[in-house]
Parts: sequence; C-alpha cells; structure tokens
Amino acid sequence: MWASMLGDQVPHVQVEMALEDEHRRLFIQMDELQRQIASDAPLAKQRFTLQMLDSFLKANSLAEEAVMFASSFPGGLAHRDEHRAHHHAVCLIDGHIISLEREAALSALAAQRHAMLIHIREKDQEIVNWKRSFKPAHLTPSQPGDFDGD
Ligand SMILES: [Fe+2]
Repeated sequence: MWASMLGDQVPHVQVEMALEDEHRRLFIQMDELQRQIASDAPLAKQRFTLQMLDSFLKANSLAEEAVMFASSFPGGLAHRDEHRAHHHAVCLIDGHIISLEREAALSALAAQRHAMLIHIREKDQEIVNWKRSFKPAHLTPSQPGDFDGD
C-alpha cells in the first residue's frame, strides 16, 4: 500500500488518513495490553498482544520513514531515532511481562503510551505539515526544489 502513497500525485490527505489509521491501531493494541496486564491475563495472551503492537509499530515507523525520506523531510534521522526508542521501550515492556513484573509493565506501558501520543501530536505532525507544503505536480510546472521528488 505504501509504495503507492509516495508519489507526488497522491493527495496528502490520503497519506494522513493512512497514518491516522495506523496510529489508531497502535492505541487499540496498547489499551488492550493494558487491560490484559491489569487483569493478569495469561502470559501468552499478553505477549501476543505485545507482538501485535510491535508489528504495528514497526509498520508505522517504516511507512513514516519512507514518506520522510522520499520527500527529503528535514530531521528525518532524528525522527527515525525516536521510532527506534519506541521499539526499545516495547522490548522493555516485554521484559517486564516475561519477568512477571506486573506493576513495572503497567508503568512502562503508560509511559510509552504517553510518549507515543506526544510523538504523534508533535513529530508526526511535522511530517504532515511538510507534505502539505507541497503543491500537486499536475497543478504547477515543475521547478527545481519545488517538489519532494517522489
Ligand atoms: Fe513518527
């Protein structure tokens, strides 16, 4: 899906809607994991949910990074580093779950949920704003530096 989202003929609103859908899935998984940990759901069930969260997180990170680098987004490397930090945080939550450290897992999950909320509101919004700054290629003649080159 994402390969077709990178062209400059794709309205930015479609890119934004796809990202929002991915973010929504991340929060659904985090909320479900929080419920499972709090209710002492079976370990395998908690870890399955966490793996789903990790998979969605990786997919979302790769999609955003593809958009950033295809559009020469400034600050893409720092943004990618934040994605890596999120992945590391998810790994730490898994460690708490495996070690049966219920309260530590809940605390780490709450902190990660907050970090991701801030990341989406601030950092991901910068990508959206960057993409919105480009005019569709078919409406204006191509000028060097005018478009994102994708
Ligand atoms: Fe991001």
